[in-house]
Amino acid sequence: MDDLLRVFGATDSILPYAREYLTIIWGSMYGNTEIAVNYAIDAVKSEDIRITSHRVPEDHVSFILSSAWKSTGLILGMPTYEYKMFPPLAHVLDDLARKKVLHKKVFRFGSYGWSGGAQKELEKLTEKLEWEFLDPVEFKGAPTGRDLDLNYKRSKELAGLIKRVFSLIGE
Ligand SMILES: Cc1cc2nc3c(=O)[nH]c(=O)nc-3n(C[C@H](O)[C@H](O)[C@H](O)COP(=O)(O)O)c2cc1C
Repeated sequence: MDDLLRVFGATDSILPYAREYLTIIWGSMYGNTEIAVNYAIDAVKSEDIRITSHRVPEDHVSFILSSAWKSTGLILGMPTYEYKMFPPLAHVLDDLARKKVLHKKVFRFGSYGWSGGAQKELEKLTEKLEWEFLDPVEFKGAPTGRDLDLNYKRSKELAGLIKRVFSLIGE
């Protein structure tokens, strides 16, 4: 239990707010990142963890904030634009940082064209939030079958970890 909680981060701080629940926040201009979204959602559901999906910029940030606040983990489907995060997601993440949405377990996947850069900016923006990141899954253009498999695997890993922590807390 202690090891798991250490892996998980400051679980005491999570407990009053967070639930056994995940939020996926995603955006995609040309559809490449979008291809991988349902793989992440299916993987989470396969672990019997509830997940709410928000697409940006379509969904209003107030709903996203409320959902993210309650979630123990976040999945971000976010491509790179101009060496940085996709702007609609950058806006939401900036709000999460301003609102001090702390101690989340986070996995990001997303498409890039040549250099990437979104992950670097994401980690910089959130460095004071004590978010723990799983290794990102990044793919050039459209995801291959291998990328999708890896995306599924990592999303499942995140859901499995959350499930395990909550089952231990419930004991
Ligand atoms: C205006 C514009 C800027 C981009 N900037 C970058 C960049 O800085 N680095 C990079 O690796 N790819 C860049 N790309 C490529 C996108 O990341 C790539 O097309 C990706 O597949 C888009 O994902 P999406 O289809 O999910 O929107 C850019 C594309 C456009 C149209």
